[in-house]
Amino acid sequence: MTGHIRHATFEGSVLVLGTGSVGQGLLPLLLRHLDLPSERVRCIGGDGRGAEIAASLGLKFEKLPLTQANYAALLKERLAAGDFLVNASVDVSSVSLMELCQEIGCLYIDTCIEPWKGAYTDHSLPAERRTNYAMRHTARELAKRYPGGHTAVVAHGANPGLVSHFIKQALIDIARDTGFKTDVPKGRDGWARLMQELGIRAVHVAERDTQYSARIKQRGEFVNTWSVDGFYSEGAQPAELGWGTHEKALPAGASTFTFGAGAAIYLDQPGALSRVRSWTPLEGSYHGFLITHNEAISTSDYYTVMENGEASYRPTCHYAYHPCDDAILSLHELAGRNLHLQPRQRIMMDEIDTGVDELGVLLLGHARGAYWYGSRLSIQDARKLAPHNNATSLQVVAAVLGGMVWAIENPKAGIVEAEQMDYDRVLEVALPYLGEMAGVYSDWTPIKGRNQLYAEAVDAEDPWQFSNVLVK
Ligand SMILES: NC(=O)c1ccc[n+]([C@@H]2O[C@H](COP(=O)([O-])OP(=O)(O)OC[C@H]3O[C@@H](n4cnc5c(N)ncnc54)[C@H](O)[C@@H]3O)[C@@H](O)[C@H]2O)c1
Repeated sequence: MTGHIRHATFEGSVLVLGTGSVGQGLLPLLLRHLDLPSERVRCIGGDGRGAEIAASLGLKFEKLPLTQANYAALLKERLAAGDFLVNASVDVSSVSLMELCQEIGCLYIDTCIEPWKGAYTDHSLPAERRTNYAMRHTARELAKRYPGGHTAVVAHGANPGLVSHFIKQALIDIARDTGFKTDVPKGRDGWARLMQELGIRAVHVAERDTQYSARIKQRGEFVNTWSVDGFYSEGAQPAELGWGTHEKALPAGASTFTFGAGAAIYLDQPGALSRVRSWTPLEGSYHGFLITHNEAISTSDYYTVMENGEASYRPTCHYAYHPCDDAILSLHELAGRNLHLQPRQRIMMDEIDTGVDELGVLLLGHARGAYWYGSRLSIQDARKLAPHNNATSLQVVAAVLGGMVWAIENPKAGIVEAEQMDYDRVLEVALPYLGEMAGVYSDWTPIKGRNQLYAEAVDAEDPWQFSNVLVK
């Protein structure tokens, strides 16, 4: 493991909680790029997955399922001031872990805001409390209690995470390519005004994963390229999106929130059954799932321009996820099973034969119409770049590495989201693992090229209305 840039020196120990697809993929990158001996990296899994990989890298592994009752005692025995907790688990509350890290005095990062097991699908909770909006609200409230506290980076994988940095890079690209003179904005207000002045109405996190294996999905099996538990949970949550000020009407079954910043809405249906029109350069036009994600809410919130106490500008933002084809089949079967998860689950890794994860941000409504900026990482390139990864996990762990380096360099930033970090520093660390980075303009709109077999109602005057995007 020589010849790799050491991005930061870390004096404490790193505890990786969760050694599934993300945790396993992260371990080799940590050892390569942090100046940190392997004796100071330890792993905890809720099951035995990842134990062999940890052992092969000379790392201590413990099987230790955490619960609300045992997590504080078990982690206090294993973490000290100056350490780093990397949360790559499912079913362990991010907010509880962040609070504990503030108490102990250690750094923290996760890739999504997880609640304790079962909260995503708890029938007794009203839909608005099972949203990512609610989860994020709790994390933002916690952040207010620890200004300048030990750095905790919230929701910093590929998406949520990296895509927020892609948005900033895309804004700079569009300004350059449309002759809009601007310096790189310094803070939230400047970034929000830049997005407004460029005329952007909507941002899609547009992802098409084409990874494929000849070992096809079997009946009763859910197959994906990352956590099946994670995808099932977020797919079962209400569909949700950041809601722009240009939108004329709420979709059928949509509600606004009764608490918090008010930058988002949710639909009375799960994301796994909700589809939206979007576009990526390699795929072209496609239907993606309107899966709820933290970045949809944080983007719309961050890029809000306030005037006289009212939001005068805010973009619409949502995820438009076309997972790999076997995951599409899995979702179809899941829907038919009335959203009861299949008895068997498989994360595709070594068996993948071919395919690319094309993950980027699609900025819509500016002078050149549509601009997609993001990563195209093939499975072949992912394997050349790092062991124990597929294309999807490598995009995630590159972002975790970038977030960790930033946290080590900024240890007293408190509890932050991607938007509050230095986008260029994170990208600098992550880019070598993202394959081809592409920035592509297009004349795509959600109403262009539709085969008008039926008298569909479209808003042709304003193609960027969400009513044109949602598949009815
Ligand atoms: N932001 C992103 O781009 C992105 C992408 C992929 C995954 N994720 C998130 O990253 C997390 C991990 O994803 P993954 O694909 O590695 O998941 P995975 O299902 O492959 O692995 C989950 C890990 O969590 C552990 N775990 C489960 N319950 C536990 C408990 N009670 N105590 C301790 N450990 C427990 C499991 O043993 C396993 O090691 C998930 O929250 C997922 O949503 C984020």
